[in-house]
Amino acid sequence: MRLLKPSVDHIPAYLSALKRGWSPDNLRPDAAQDQIARIESDADSFVAGLDDPTASAGPITLPDGTKVPRLPSLRRWIWDNEFCGHISLRWRPGTEELPPTCSGHIGYAVVPWRSGEGLASAALRALLPEATTAGLSYVTITTSPDNPASMRVIEKAGGALQRSYTADRALGGRETLEFRISLGS
Ligand SMILES: CC(C)(COP(=O)(O)OP(=O)(O)OC[C@H]1O[C@@H](n2cnc3c(N)ncnc32)[C@H](O)[C@@H]1OP(=O)(O)O)[C@@H](O)C(=O)NCCC(=O)NCCS
Repeated sequence: MRLLKPSVDHIPAYLSALKRGWSPDNLRPDAAQDQIARIESDADSFVAGLDDPTASAGPITLPDGTKVPRLPSLRRWIWDNEFCGHISLRWRPGTEELPPTCSGHIGYAVVPWRSGEGLASAALRALLPEATTAGLSYVTITTSPDNPASMRVIEKAGGALQRSYTADRALGGRETLEFRISLGS
């Protein structure tokens, strides 16, 4: 497994996963159709907006359609002979705090036809040094209580449950578990 910075060279594999039915946003299933249209219209600008450490792209659309300012973010593609999924890091410079409309520092998804191979676990471990480089002393990761595979991925990376809460209404208002992974030495 390697984490690749998104590039136009690898966009055919990404597009193929979208067309095969994988959704890049587990809170917004229609995100795949949006992305297919954007890639087919201008692949260069689509790729440029994925890895955005200066938050230069436009606002983020939440599941209820609300738009909120974008945080600095990194996006990496999980690659193992083919496109296998993605993992992202977002943060507010100078603090570990996040706005209530941002559900954790790290999010990830693996294409269903490559699940259960340890790819999400390896990707999370590989991304944590980037969080340290961004100045974070810990990261939070949230998941649904109905997602034991994601909980296991977080726990294997050293995550500990911090709290259970109801997500912001704009994110769907669902019960959410928040884990924390310490990055200190
Ligand atoms: C959750 C997800 C990222 C896991 O990806 P993955 O590459 O299959 O995960 P891994 O193979 O690295 O690890 C999965 C772990 O969960 C375990 N697991 C899987 N299903 C499980 C279940 N129903 N109950 C308990 N554990 C389960 C696996 O056994 C494995 O643990 P192990 O290594 O100790 O055996 C993937 O299923 C996915 O993309 N889901 C949709 C998007 C999503 O939920 N993203 C996370 C949002 S927080």
